[in-house]
Amino acid sequence: MSDSTPSFESVLAAVRAAGDAASLRALEREQLGKEGPIAALLASIPTLPPESRKEAGQRANRMKSELAAAVAERLQQLEEAQLAAERSGAGFDATLPAARVERGSLHPLTQVTRELEDLFTSMGYTVLDGPEVELDWYNFEALNIPRDHPARDMQDTFRCDPAGNVVLRPHTSPVQVRAMERMRPPFRAIAPGKVFRQESTDASHEHTFHQMEGLVVGKDISVGHLIGAMKTLLRGVFGREIEIRLRPGYFPFVEPGFELDARCPFCKSGCRVCKQSTWIELLPCGMVHPNVLRAGNIDPAEWSGFAFGLGLSRLVMLRHGIDDVRHLLSGDVRFLEQFR
Ligand code: PHE
Repeated sequence: MSDSTPSFESVLAAVRAAGDAASLRALEREQLGKEGPIAALLASIPTLPPESRKEAGQRANRMKSELAAAVAERLQQLEEAQLAAERSGAGFDATLPAARVERGSLHPLTQVTRELEDLFTSMGYTVLDGPEVELDWYNFEALNIPRDHPARDMQDTFRCDPAGNVVLRPHTSPVQVRAMERMRPPFRAIAPGKVFRQESTDASHEHTFHQMEGLVVGKDISVGHLIGAMKTLLRGVFGREIEIRLRPGYFPFVEPGFELDARCPFCKSGCRVCKQSTWIELLPCGMVHPNVLRAGNIDPAEWSGFAFGLGLSRLVMLRHGIDDVRHLLSGDVRFLEQFR
């Protein structure tokens, strides 16, 4: 080394005195890097007289490892010092306000679905799931709606293939038949989920919405059991006893079929929600048609059952006074933030 380059001892001293990891790393690059003095020393060895090459090589390598060890040692000291400083709490202000944590919330449809699942499982129901892309057999045929039956037009079904063997389910009722295939009676089940209809959308129509199917099959199941279950459902949803009435309703998969109305929970003598009638059309239901039991391999001579189709989207709208169904799946955060 010439006189203008710092001595090895002073380089070592600088490493041991480095004040932070960054300057230490810079020093390391400068001294041990490809352009550094030790690299230059090693490169010059072939030009030395043969008898001094060995000693020069050993010296250069010794300097190299000594320097590397000094760097590692200093780095560890600096890290330990930093940890100790952090642990001592110096410079930490416990009174500073924390960064605000953004809390999300459950969608109102998820909220009502979970509540109803709790309610029905407490009554011994099983919660089932079914495919949203459904076969014609489950959606129509097994539900006592043969091809060319006019009732196929009751729901404007999205078809997935030209033959119409695969559809987007327009209701959750196909899960009834899937339930019968999977479970032996007696059983009780609900099946909440998305359904799809080909409709021009407006404040009360949406192409995608939510329903919850209910199905109970057992010995001597009667309309009385149906009414009892629906009253319990209403008590769960509105937190008190609500008067109901049944009107005849037509669905090919139930006989007799009903439209169940509930006394308007929001007024005594008529309001906007019940359109001044004091009754709210709440859900279609009925006694499972023998043909449907047969399609599910259940003997109608031995077993009977009831089914209902609760509109979850409608229920959420009623509960929160939402006037446009399209809000529900809009994904608009300003809408969703209201349901924390
Ligand atoms: N699946 C019917 C619909 O969506 C509703 C329904 C369900 C009716 C169960 C009776 C029994 O229109």
